[in-house]
Amino acid sequence: MMTLWAGRFAEEMTAAMAAVNRSLTTDIRLLPHDLQVNRAWTTALQQIGLLTATEVEAIHRALDTIASEAAKPAFAVQVAAFPDEDVHSFVERRVTELAGAAGQKIHTGRSRNDQVATDLRLYLTTTVEQLRAALHHAITALVTQARQHQETVMPGYTHLQQAQPVTLAHYLLSAAWMLRDDTMRLTDLTTRLDACPLGSGALAGSAYPIDRQALATALGFSAPTPNSMAAVSARDDCLEVVAACAILMTHLSRYAEDWILWSTQEFHFITLADSVSTGSSMMPQKKNPDSLELIRGKSARVIGQMQTLFTLLKGLPFTYARDLQEDKPALFDALDQTLASVALFTDVVSSVTFHAETMRAAIDPGVFATELADYLSRKGVPFRTAHAMVAGLMRNAIARKCDLRQCSVAELAALVPEPHRSAAKHFTDDVTHCFDPIMTLARRNLVGGTGPTSVAQQLKAFALWLRHTQDEPTHIGLQDT
Ligand code: ARG
Repeated sequence: MMTLWAGRFAEEMTAAMAAVNRSLTTDIRLLPHDLQVNRAWTTALQQIGLLTATEVEAIHRALDTIASEAAKPAFAVQVAAFPDEDVHSFVERRVTELAGAAGQKIHTGRSRNDQVATDLRLYLTTTVEQLRAALHHAITALVTQARQHQETVMPGYTHLQQAQPVTLAHYLLSAAWMLRDDTMRLTDLTTRLDACPLGSGALAGSAYPIDRQALATALGFSAPTPNSMAAVSARDDCLEVVAACAILMTHLSRYAEDWILWSTQEFHFITLADSVSTGSSMMPQKKNPDSLELIRGKSARVIGQMQTLFTLLKGLPFTYARDLQEDKPALFDALDQTLASVALFTDVVSSVTFHAETMRAAIDPGVFATELADYLSRKGVPFRTAHAMVAGLMRNAIARKCDLRQCSVAELAALVPEPHRSAAKHFTDDVTHCFDPIMTLARRNLVGGTGPTSVAQQLKAFALWLRHTQDEPTHIGLQDT
């Protein structure tokens, strides 16, 4: 192996040490960012007279050559055979091969510690942007479906037991709002990604009077990081991004779980598109919801990678220790899996068929019990009495197998047991409205409710938000519509 530090050592590494030590095949992903960092750093060295214009020109030409070499399909295969320890060593070797002696000066005044911290920030900035764009597509797909299902009534669940009727639109928008929050979380953390670690050296700061503000600006950051020890040693940027991914994946996983259930023969609320399903090698009839199962499975993986990063850091003495090299496999995997899952979730959402009739038919009359209690409360019966009265009524209805929706007012009153029987006088003709899901929904038009006006308001808020966030995500709530 070719290293940047061999001079100090009399012995070669053992094969095991070489294998564990080397990170090139993983961190080669940082190459575009490392080239950018090298370009900015050598320009900064020129500004303080440590490199001549001619040297910098040769170095920048070499960096361009490396970029075009890396763009060739064969490069990915060649990397495994390169002799270098990591991506930074690779770039320095190749620049020196291409630009001659000038290449040997590029590492002046810096360390791989500030270099890798800067590469990571650039990588995170780009990837977070991709993730926000992917979320934008996912939210668009949810909102598009919600618009079609403002009148699709379904049972809403708590404890996986039917609770109260809701519209499918309201359910779909619950996912849209949660992904909206995931987007905001990413937007928020970008403010903390926006500081440039380069110039922090190994831990104490560079020995040269580098203009760190100019360097930060050249790399697209607003400012340099304020403390060199924190800059090379913290991985809060990785933690925050992966934690945001873990939260987002938890959201996807829960909706995946619902929809897996909904796609069963027993529920039959949805049919997934063939294009996001798979079959069985043995049972010819099978159509499996593997897209959703994989998303649910990958959520475990992303949460695991978050755990890896926290565990890596929790006992690490300040500042840099080589443990930190293990941040990259966890980070890259978490982001890869999250990006892939959001894209797949978007495909599932845009291609699913909802069976509105099955959903409506699945509504158990019991879901109207709260409505009945509220009906009595509106007529002055204390809620606790109304609750007890309706609970007794439901008990009798279940025992006598009567469907409340088919009962006359007198039959309903007859279901009320003592000691509440007298309160049954409050049942008048309009009581049947309690069993009409449309009327039930219409009563829930307050902000955030499942009523049609509330849902229309949510849709309006999203139309606005999606338009505004095309370029720059901003906080837009219902109050802005
Ligand atoms: N490959 C290393 C990493 O990813 C780069 C930093 C090496 N620094 C060091 N002091 N050995 O962390």
